Amino acid sequence: MSSNPLILGIETSCDETAVGIVSGRKLLANIIYSSIPEHQNFGGIVPEVAARAHLEKMDQTISEALKSAKVELSDIDAIAVTAGPGLISSLMIGVAAGEGLALALDKPIYGVNHLAAHIAVDTLNNDRPIRPTIALVVSGGHSSILQVNDLTSDIKLLGRTIDDAAGEAFDKIARLMGLGFPGGPLIDNEAKSGDSSSINFPRGLTQPKDQAVHRFNFSFSGLKTAVSRYLAQTPNYRRADVAASFQEAIADVLLRKSIAACQESGIDSLVISGGVAANSRLRALAIERCEQAGIELRTPPPILCTDNGAMVAALGSLALSAGLAPSGLGFAPASDTSPAEPLWR
Ligand code: KG4
Ligand code: ZN
Repeated sequence: MSSNPLILGIETSCDETAVGIVSGRKLLANIIYSSIPEHQNFGGIVPEVAARAHLEKMDQTISEALKSAKVELSDIDAIAVTAGPGLISSLMIGVAAGEGLALALDKPIYGVNHLAAHIAVDTLNNDRPIRPTIALVVSGGHSSILQVNDLTSDIKLLGRTIDDAAGEAFDKIARLMGLGFPGGPLIDNEAKSGDSSSINFPRGLTQPKDQAVHRFNFSFSGLKTAVSRYLAQTPNYRRADVAASFQEAIADVLLRKSIAACQESGIDSLVISGGVAANSRLRALAIERCEQAGIELRTPPPILCTDNGAMVAALGSLALSAGLAPSGLGFAPASDTSPAEPLWR
């Protein structure tokens, strides 16, 4: 095997059927199909619809990724696949495809944790060394602060949401304002012409009384209620102002807690990833606050923040180059797994 092995990564934890191919730490292909249009009428992801779309798109996505990377299936050195957390019926399609490929090609397979993969994507296309870091992983399904001592073997969960995920909050507020689904990019866009200081929405779990148990946990349900009440009580509200003020409240809380985690752990590095990390205000505020706090900030490009196969391949590549034992054929996915297990055993 060369020093830059070829890894094919498969991601099917939610609505994206995605395949990425990396060579060592170089990204060669990143093909993503989303079943979002099929869920639009329902205002959220319907698991059965997502699973069927994965089944229908899997072969094509793999073929397109190989073509885009200009490699043959027989060139692949190892397979990596998201094994959890996620929608179980969706995960099963990706894991079955990955195991089938590994068996047919007689190559190792790594079942990887989706959250760890969101962080691992930062190692692609840059030569910055991987060192202990705090990671904020924020998306439609998860909002977590993690202490990453080693991406393949040592990740600690410092905090997570106790109700909605950050992306879920964006999606619900967008629906309340009649913006459509998924709400994150729509609110991001709407907020550009709004005044973020016009409405002071609550910052969940940031009071002194929350510091003991919920120091690094998030809660977005109070914010959701406050926005909903504001909309009901303010008939002529300015949509852009609500979007900007809501977005500001989310970005503020996410960063306050992430930076506090850096300071408390003595780790001066922060990775922000997951779909919500594509948010323009979160990215801008993160640059500002990390600079002030002397923290090195890493935010993958937006296309690598939302779910993709390259992030899965990136974590598989790290596992292979660290000489870690593969997962072995026949492992099963799991819908709710802790990031403390970056790789399936
Ligand atoms: O990581 P991801 O693609 O899938 C999950 O693992 O959930 O994240 C999707 C979420 C959705 O809730 C979407 O509204 C949100 O990420 N999102 C954004 C932006 N782009 C996507 N949220 C805020 N601002 C954005 N620009
Ligand atoms: Zn995700």
